[in-house]
Amino acid sequence: MARVLQPKDRDKTAERLLDSSMRNSYDPDVDIDWDAPLVEGKSFMPEERVSLYGTALWDRLSPEQRLELTKHEIGSITSVGLWTEIVLMQLLARYAADLDPRSPHTHYALTEIGDETRHAIMFGKAIGRLGLPAYGPPRVVRTPAKLFGALIGGPAMFASVLVVEETTDRLQRSMLDDERIQPMIRMINRIHVVEEARHVRYAREELVRGVGSLGRRALELHRLVTAVVAHTVVNVLVHPAVYRAVGLDPREARAVALANPHHHETRRWMAEKIVPFLTEVGMIGGPSERIWQKAHLL
Ligand SMILES: [Fe+2]
Ligand SMILES: [Fe+2]
Repeated sequence: MARVLQPKDRDKTAERLLDSSMRNSYDPDVDIDWDAPLVEGKSFMPEERVSLYGTALWDRLSPEQRLELTKHEIGSITSVGLWTEIVLMQLLARYAADLDPRSPHTHYALTEIGDETRHAIMFGKAIGRLGLPAYGPPRVVRTPAKLFGALIGGPAMFASVLVVEETTDRLQRSMLDDERIQPMIRMINRIHVVEEARHVRYAREELVRGVGSLGRRALELHRLVTAVVAHTVVNVLVHPAVYRAVGLDPREARAVALANPHHHETRRWMAEKIVPFLTEVGMIGGPSERIWQKAHLL
């Protein structure tokens, strides 16, 4: 099987990532001016990435309502991202507990837990600063995720982490140089993009190392778990209650968003980097590939 990435020695990679972490990490408490006023009229995410964009419902919204919806929708995505980071801390802590505490590979896993701790605080502060509710995923997703966090390991774990990190990264990166977006949001995205690039590198290499050792049956199982995680996370990113904030009926607006071809395109765009990689390494394929299609990620 062709590999898009040649995994180098895991400790060598970890040493490089640790060195980069030391030179280029952020402290959101001091690196973000939490008291700076929001800029009048600037958006909170690109309008063309809002779930209703391109529908008749969107066309009926006033410019003020559209702006308000960008705020609630990015707030919902951020709150789900924050929650996945806490699940990831649990996964990484379990992973690191069984590794050699002397190895750089272990030290990087622990460093990443530290990064995610700061990110979760940063996102939590941002949601509070914007005066938004803590949307997050529904209970029907939160409860099984506790079991997932306690059980899953190996390729399914690294692939699931990559799906979440790389899809949200795509959205954040697109805002870095976008003058239409609030400066505070852009700074948060900048911090996150820099630190996530290291996490992605770590997980991608570890995934390549792990997937080769799976037998046929195990591979299908790891593929299935990853597909279910991808489908679930992408489906809960936008909480239906965000629509209520602009006077829309949550059930009706949610149905419109789920049927919106433009929203399907946004999902595929968010997955444009991770899907070819997972396909290349063999983590997308077989019967569970249908789940990726149903989620509009493929
Ligand atoms: Fe993060
Ligand atoms: Fe991360």
